[in-house]
Amino acid sequence: MDGPPPPASPAGLSAYVAVSQLLGLTLLATTGAWLGRYRGGVAWDSPLQFNVHPLCMVLGMVFLQALLVYRVFRHEAKRSTKALHALLHGLALVIALVGIIAVFESHRTKSIPNMYSLHSWCGMAAFVLYLLQWLLGCGFFLLPSTSFSLRSRYKPQHIFFGIALFALSIAACLLGITEMLLFNIRDSYSHFAPEGVLANTLGVLLVAFGLVVGYVLTRDDWKRPPLAEELALSMDFKTLTEHESPSGSSQ
Ligand code: HEM
Repeated sequence: MDGPPPPASPAGLSAYVAVSQLLGLTLLATTGAWLGRYRGGVAWDSPLQFNVHPLCMVLGMVFLQALLVYRVFRHEAKRSTKALHALLHGLALVIALVGIIAVFESHRTKSIPNMYSLHSWCGMAAFVLYLLQWLLGCGFFLLPSTSFSLRSRYKPQHIFFGIALFALSIAACLLGITEMLLFNIRDSYSHFAPEGVLANTLGVLLVAFGLVVGYVLTRDDWKRPPLAEELALSMDFKTLTEHESPSGSSQ
């Protein structure tokens, strides 16, 4: 066959990725079970419209954020991995937008005021910054006209804000869960009502998911290694810029 087989993944990475995906699927199932068993299910043109909100937010702003494309497809061409990364985040954005529309629509039909709670402020901040992050990501990394130097300068910020917004989304979900329990089962929550226990479990799963995914994302030696041709390109660029600026100062 052509060429040697791709190098194996680092020890531990596959196990962590598997645990993260298992946790992700469990937290989606737990969200569905909570809304289905205790909140009447999910529907658009009905009083159940509100329930579309938590479902879409957990799916779009948490689960789909953490498919770990660059860790899983470590040896694929950068171009296709990048396109998949942008596409999945685009899908996550659309799902999150549906969730945001659902809660505003539901508030409108029930004449409930908008944007008064800490949850709604943190949630809206997470959503708007995520939209900005996606637009900037497309502009810097997908537009062929963006220079290599601009991309390299923006990349650390994109990585930091990606992780920070993922953490902020989980925090917003925890606030949303607590708020929803206090709206719906205020009197029985302190007596370990089954709905409260299930929703608390969802909160703990969200925290566990965030920790495992955060660990995978911050392990330097688990980052996608550059392919030979990418390495050659960046060496060319380095030589070029060092030649242009003999002082060699960089930030
Ligand atoms: C990152 C995820 C989330 C984001 C970005 C988000 C965003 C928002 C926003 C912007 C509002 C205000 C809507 C308005 O004022 O009309 C809102 C309301 C609400 N959300 Fe979320 N949400 C998220 C997750 C969740 C989750 C997981 C739950 C519950 C399980 C939840 C429960 C609620 C509740 C009960 C309200 C109505 C009360 C209020 O306005 O604070 N949210 N959310």
